[in-house]
Amino acid sequence: MTTLTQTTGKTSAMPSNSNKLAIALTPGDGIGPEIMEAVLHIFKAAGVMDHVDFVHAEMGEKEFARGNSSGISDQAIDTIERTGLLFKGPMGTPIGGGGKSINVTLRKKFSAFANLRHFQSLPGVETVFSKAGVPVDFYVVRENIEDTYGGIEHRLTNDVIECKRLISAPGCDQVHRFAFETAHKLGISTVTCSHKANIMKMTDGLFLERFRHIAKDYEDIETNDVIIDALCMNLVLRPDRYQMIVLPNLQGDIVSDLAAGLVGGLGFAPSANIGENVAIFEAVHGTAPDIAGKGIANPTSLLLSGLIMLRHIGLAKQAAIINNALLATLEDGIHTGDVKGDKPPVKTMEFADAVADHLGKMPTTCTPRVVGTQDKVSFNKPERPTSYRLRRTFQNIPSHVCGADIYVDTTMPPFELAQKLQAICEYGPFKLTLISNRGTQVWPSGSVYTEIVDYYRVRFELKDPNMLGKIGQAPAIHLLDKVCEVFTITDFQPLRMYDGKPGFSLAQGQ
Ligand code: NAI
Repeated sequence: MTTLTQTTGKTSAMPSNSNKLAIALTPGDGIGPEIMEAVLHIFKAAGVMDHVDFVHAEMGEKEFARGNSSGISDQAIDTIERTGLLFKGPMGTPIGGGGKSINVTLRKKFSAFANLRHFQSLPGVETVFSKAGVPVDFYVVRENIEDTYGGIEHRLTNDVIECKRLISAPGCDQVHRFAFETAHKLGISTVTCSHKANIMKMTDGLFLERFRHIAKDYEDIETNDVIIDALCMNLVLRPDRYQMIVLPNLQGDIVSDLAAGLVGGLGFAPSANIGENVAIFEAVHGTAPDIAGKGIANPTSLLLSGLIMLRHIGLAKQAAIINNALLATLEDGIHTGDVKGDKPPVKTMEFADAVADHLGKMPTTCTPRVVGTQDKVSFNKPERPTSYRLRRTFQNIPSHVCGADIYVDTTMPPFELAQKLQAICEYGPFKLTLISNRGTQVWPSGSVYTEIVDYYRVRFELKDPNMLGKIGQAPAIHLLDKVCEVFTITDFQPLRMYDGKPGFSLAQGQ
């Protein structure tokens, strides 16, 4: 094992002290090494290195350049699995081609299911709200693994590409419980669920339903919910209305950046990705290629993420001391070039030196962090799982096939298509009940004002409802077989009733 220490502006390896807690560390690409160096310098000055060993984990642009399409070395995976902790700088994602985002891969691979971000007005960082005297101080908890981030995409026809959006009940339960537990720890009294359940009634509907269900275990915490578009407006108008917001992945991603804008930009937003076995702490912003190598990047976001990490492992006292030093530094008008200020901007390492010099000082224009006594590592790495763990929320709900949605690639007009499909299903247990195009019904009724593309959903349902529960999925597969003799199939979805309730949505206009 090696320790990365900051020596005169460079990170270098030295033998480890095995009594210390090992943490995997990746400086990252672009400005990553510069801001990481600054943060490690502050950590060293605050005595953090007496308790932790940073173990280099190789990933990022160098790995992509070696032809590793994941961008993550086996050594890095091994180190993260051994330590259960990763502190990382930003990493570039190759645009186009096969290279996937390392950040998304890490969160998914290690089941870091909740992304926690704190957005707070900082002294010396001028925003419209600081000028108006409106304090901003709220948390966003974003589901981190599911949703469109499954990256399950297919070209279905010449003109249509699909992205599957998966929301699972165990995934919702994990993130909601994490939000409530974190709210408890932080003394937060109200948690808001944001969603688009008015449109995505089943997926976002599940997210909201599970929020309400899990909330029953936390009766002392007030809850409410808000549709995502209204949330965005409310955040811009009155951000002080919120304490903690929990959202599905994509919506959470967008709202997180919006929230960063409220407190002065991405340079000030810390982020932690928390799972049961692995936690990843990273800056919210990217590699900033436009300023990389100039030594002018703002290390605050990475530093604040590092402070969440210190609290996570038990070094709460060191975290509070550094946090107060940071606030006092900003109060003194010391800032990097991305922040407006009266004083001329300083360089990254000058900013780090200033924070180190302010260690022990308290901010005077904002509430200082309470410096407690907890200054020893209390983190216990969970046991390594021995096999894939299955998570379940609902079990044994009776479900019965009641039809099938078959997706076909054709430019045939709806009525002609209906005639052919009706002929195909004439002698089986199913009848044609619906044809929709891009989710809007175009048969049996519709409007010629509805524009169509080369991708139809055709829905078949049982002719005799009394057959429900008396047939398996074989007749639906047989129907698919017959339809594929005539049409190009692009997708197939058996329709089921779950405990008597349809496990599928209606078409727009149905
Ligand atoms: P970016 O966040 O790197 O840069 C956006 C703008 O903010 C630029 O003008 C940049 O100079 C500025 N900026 C960002 N961080 C700053 C800092 N600490 N100090 C001062 N200014 C800062 O976003 P962009 O340009 O869209 O992405 C660049 C690369 O970073 C891409 O390859 C992207 O995939 C990757 N990325 C990585 C993330 C991560 O590792 N967590 C997150 C976001 C993007």
